[in-house]
Amino acid sequence: MDKDYRSIIASMTLEEKAGLCSGNDMWNLKNVERLGVPTIMVSDGPHGLRKQANGLGVAVNQSADAICFPTASATACSWDKELLRTLGDALGEEAVAEQIAVVLGPGTNIKRSALCGRNFEYFSEDPYLAGMLSAAFIQGVQQHGIGTSLKHFCANNQETYRQSIDAIIDERTLREIYLLPYEIAVKDAAPMTIMASYNKINGTYVSQHRRIMREILRDEWGYQGVVMSDWGAVAQRVPSIQASMDLEMPSSGGMNDEKLVNAVRDGSLDESVLDESVERILRLIDTTHAATVGGSYNKEAHDALSRSIAAQSAVLLRNAQQSLPIRAGERVLLVGEMARTPRFQGAGSSFINATRITSLQEGLREHGVSFDYLPGYDLKNENKNRKELQRVLKAAPRYDRVICCVGLPASYEAEGFDRTTMELPPCHNQLVERLADIHSNVTVVLSMGSAVLLPWADRVRAILCMYLGGQASGGACADLLTGAINPSGKLAETFPLAQDDAPSARYFPGNRRRSEYREGLYVGYRYFDTANAPVRYPFGFGLSYTTFEYSDLRLSATQISDDEPLQVQVTVRNTGDAIGREIVQLYVKDPVSSRYMPEHQLKAFEKIELAPGQSKTVTMTLNRRSFAFYDVDTKDWQVESGDFEIQIAASSRDIRLRATVSVQARQEIAFAPTPQSWYTAPDLTPISDEDFRLLMPDYEDQPVVIPRKGEFTQEDSICDMAQTSGLARFVLKVSRLGTQISMRAPKDDPNCMMICEVFRTSPVRALSTSSQGMFTEKMADGLVDMMNGHFFRGLGGILKGMKKPKKQKKN
Ligand code: BGC
Repeated sequence: MDKDYRSIIASMTLEEKAGLCSGNDMWNLKNVERLGVPTIMVSDGPHGLRKQANGLGVAVNQSADAICFPTASATACSWDKELLRTLGDALGEEAVAEQIAVVLGPGTNIKRSALCGRNFEYFSEDPYLAGMLSAAFIQGVQQHGIGTSLKHFCANNQETYRQSIDAIIDERTLREIYLLPYEIAVKDAAPMTIMASYNKINGTYVSQHRRIMREILRDEWGYQGVVMSDWGAVAQRVPSIQASMDLEMPSSGGMNDEKLVNAVRDGSLDESVLDESVERILRLIDTTHAATVGGSYNKEAHDALSRSIAAQSAVLLRNAQQSLPIRAGERVLLVGEMARTPRFQGAGSSFINATRITSLQEGLREHGVSFDYLPGYDLKNENKNRKELQRVLKAAPRYDRVICCVGLPASYEAEGFDRTTMELPPCHNQLVERLADIHSNVTVVLSMGSAVLLPWADRVRAILCMYLGGQASGGACADLLTGAINPSGKLAETFPLAQDDAPSARYFPGNRRRSEYREGLYVGYRYFDTANAPVRYPFGFGLSYTTFEYSDLRLSATQISDDEPLQVQVTVRNTGDAIGREIVQLYVKDPVSSRYMPEHQLKAFEKIELAPGQSKTVTMTLNRRSFAFYDVDTKDWQVESGDFEIQIAASSRDIRLRATVSVQARQEIAFAPTPQSWYTAPDLTPISDEDFRLLMPDYEDQPVVIPRKGEFTQEDSICDMAQTSGLARFVLKVSRLGTQISMRAPKDDPNCMMICEVFRTSPVRALSTSSQGMFTEKMADGLVDMMNGHFFRGLGGILKGMKKPKKQKKN
């Protein structure tokens, strides 16, 4: 394609330009044949390729075989930028082979609550860690000349009512917690695309949020790539393009293209705004098309890489009396269905048809560990659990060690709905508890995509957390249990003692319309460490089969200057007798501030490998921004003059060394101190309206009013309508059944649960825009009419609204 995009644009008709700003179908962009503009294909993401043929509709689980790499819940615990780059590199290679131009990932949303059903696709509760790992992943993929889609921008921190929920967040929190990972990834790695999320922020849909998209993302951060919508996330097409949301996905069957054309014609949309978007899309097509040459990749090698990444990411949470690794000749009883049928990924749009799956059983056999096996519980039939438990309890005393695999079954966490409890299934907890009653050497292996409660943690000898470790996680687990690889992951999220221990618990997932982020900056360890509240396992925690000693903290200067970044050096020595890898964490504490401030915040980290007895010096770099907060009055990042503490730590609760550095403000601004409030001494008491107004002075909580029959519009969901419309209740029932039948799945199949939940809670408008023109706007109007009680008029509207979607042929 000609690199002179402007001259191509000059030759395009208005219809062609508007058309290029939406997909041709579910996964392909449009081409403009006469001008030599080819089509490109995008594909999920984020931890494997879900390449789907068109026309599969809701069948998320039907896609080409691909490597299922460990999910972000696992890889985040590696704290290893190089490893994420390698993962991205492998995915990029696969995408090129599959002729995919954009991989829809990474998932960079913050884990505001452990209950978010999609946490397994996200990295961390900490924005710096999430941002740095996302950037590395993006660099890895994009070195192949194809793109990534940094998602879901932004504040898409829950699945409940995800298509319409309004995230109420004060600007400082938005900047310092929820936007920061995106800012880091955009500035460090320039993702070719960003995916605008479904939700609203402070009353406006992100997909048409001028301030977030134009002013912050483009004007402030300098982002020049394409912003595409999440699938069906465009609420109003004209405002969304004005906000610089370039590409609507998937196709809306021409409906929104027509709106763009009409808006240019009637003068409500400046054609130059459309041209800007077209230029960005042309550049994306041009850059990536040439790279998607096709070919093949070495599936065995990528499977092995997946295994190695899983092993580098797992977290050893407990190892009393150095119980692990397994010693030669031990009599081992392996328990738990998950040892045979591994849980290694989550459901929804990230679901991968794995090329092969390695269970822990196979992994242990490979290592020559002989063991007997019992399922311990039944994943499908709860009635069998009592019998299975009895068999385990009877057999266990005959063995030196019991390895017990528990975790969250697939139906507990998925895209499309949130968890309601952090507990493991009762039969899993009971199995561990009862085993701990009768056996002194129990090793627990955990598989799940988010933090869980571990009430029995102190009663077992060892706990190895694999998260959702991809298709080879069973093999990786065996590598770790046998000591072939030394565990080196550390938690990227806090494990609390109880579900309600975090202040967000009271406000998550909000009501039917709004989710108030009342806890402000106090997400994860920022709360727990400030309140000095006990936790099960702190952020950044993880054990190794060796030990490390930290010494000799040195700073390159005693004061931060603008010209030179501050170099922080520390020496780490392996004091044990196994080769191991340590993650060195650097937190900054601002002891005196006019603003409310979390106890400390992660600002740098490094992972190093050390042979027994070996020492290495780790160097980390800080700059002025590392000491800044976002000031809403001056609308800028500000530093206050004073002394700051640099903490070198093995976890957020294990600070090994401290030093002080002084920072001089560029210009002294008189800041009024934050008044005493919940934020200056956070705890688990409710955060009053008055306190929340300190962060959001203009916010008024409105009572939730669900429209009644007769008042519905396309912005209402079927579940809203079902409150007063019998027809809506009927439609919900039929749709649930229809989904199960068409997916040939039981009702607790998580992919099926996701589709049903999305259908139930999406505004009718979103059902229409994500239907690729099959459910037209007129049909949506007809449906709303029917729900409003005008059955025949609505039915007539639906029939009239039916049209054949116009599709463009692929080149
Ligand atoms: C998900 C995205 C995904 C897209 C395409 C959406 O429902 O939120 O993460 O990339 O579907 O499958």
